[in-house]
Amino acid sequence: AQKYRPVQPIDLRDRTWPNHTITQPPVWLSTDLRDGNQALAQPMSIDQKLRFFKLLVQIGFKEIEVGFPSASATEFEFVRRLIEEDHIPNDVTIQALTQARETLIHRTFESLQGAKQAIVHVYNATAPVFRRVVFGKNKTETIELAVAAATLIRQLADQHPETAWRFQYSPEVFTSTELPFARDICNAVLAVWQPTPDAKAVINLPASVEVATPNIFADQVEWMHRHLAYRHAVALSVHPHNDRGCSVAAAELAQMAGADRVEGCLFGNGERTGNVDLVTLAMNLYTQGIHPGLDFSQIDQVAEVVKHCTQLPIHPRHPYIGELVFTAFSGSHQDAIKKGFAQRQPQDIWEIPYLPMDPADVGRSYEAIVRVNSQSGKGGIAFLLERDFGVVLPKRLQVEFSQVVQRVMDSTGQEVTAAAIWQLFQQTYGPA
Ligand code: KIV
Ligand code: ZN
Repeated sequence: AQKYRPVQPIDLRDRTWPNHTITQPPVWLSTDLRDGNQALAQPMSIDQKLRFFKLLVQIGFKEIEVGFPSASATEFEFVRRLIEEDHIPNDVTIQALTQARETLIHRTFESLQGAKQAIVHVYNATAPVFRRVVFGKNKTETIELAVAAATLIRQLADQHPETAWRFQYSPEVFTSTELPFARDICNAVLAVWQPTPDAKAVINLPASVEVATPNIFADQVEWMHRHLAYRHAVALSVHPHNDRGCSVAAAELAQMAGADRVEGCLFGNGERTGNVDLVTLAMNLYTQGIHPGLDFSQIDQVAEVVKHCTQLPIHPRHPYIGELVFTAFSGSHQDAIKKGFAQRQPQDIWEIPYLPMDPADVGRSYEAIVRVNSQSGKGGIAFLLERDFGVVLPKRLQVEFSQVVQRVMDSTGQEVTAAAIWQLFQQTYGPA
């Protein structure tokens, strides 16, 4: 039976309202080991990267960007270890990033020798300020750079037919690039690669810096979707960063606008304010009745590995994982949750007030849902006594006893645990 209510598309005949919904998960690419890693004060060691890679495989990622092998010895070594020690399952494709420079492309291919399947991801910046200030190249020269890189990649791939190669191109800083120019450079690269539906090329549109509202990004993605050559042989990918705090919305609107694939990191690690958070995106789908194809049913274990490898904490209010996201302190919320649980039947659609999802679906217990502090009312106290000690208080006693608990909390200013409430109850009314 369906546990979560699927989103109902709005079907207003006058068409003045959008009626887009996401009906299937995108292809996910984790760039935790590349974009996530390059943003860490202390990049991951090879062993940490290996631990993280295994986690990504266990979660269900089929495309994983494993690093920037031409950038450092550690990055190169890590890719070699993955291949030589046979850590890559047959249904997983690793991806390696390179700049559009001849020596770096050669080194990237060297690192990927012997891989069963691999995506070579090449990028160059295309926005006017980068062309003018950083590279001193005009539009034609910028296209020539990308085409030369694409040509070399094609040649090197043809020399190593033992690997099933795919190719990815990112016009870096896409969101600040003139759309016709972004189209022209992507189409020029595609013309070199000549992708087919069986070996799709990836055109990845990065919001390298998030500069506009999510609907603008979605409009840009839709324009590319409509104007790209070889569209049937292209996986149209997005790579939102989170500078304006809107990357989740940007990725969701981009999918509605034609994107097939999303690149991001677990819990939103990545440069500056991070890459888009793949956990939130996946669980947003899940709670709309669409299985994301990624397994976050033991989310605390995932978080432990990520925290260990990145040495970054996760905010207590982070969607789906934060320590407090399934917790209610306020009395009215506690009361509504209590009533929701009391009336719920196992086959029902999930509809517990104030709980957008069942904590058990991410491996969390109900323990933390109701916690009692000076903001809480009688409902939470009664809920904890009944849940943990099987004591059902009549209404009048709930009111009376909550005043006892309230006095304690007012004097200490502290939260009280279920065990402390039970002790107080026994002290007040004698042993049960
Ligand atoms: O944000 C970005 O533009 C990137 C590219 C290298 C894809 O990470
Ligand atoms: Zn990035």
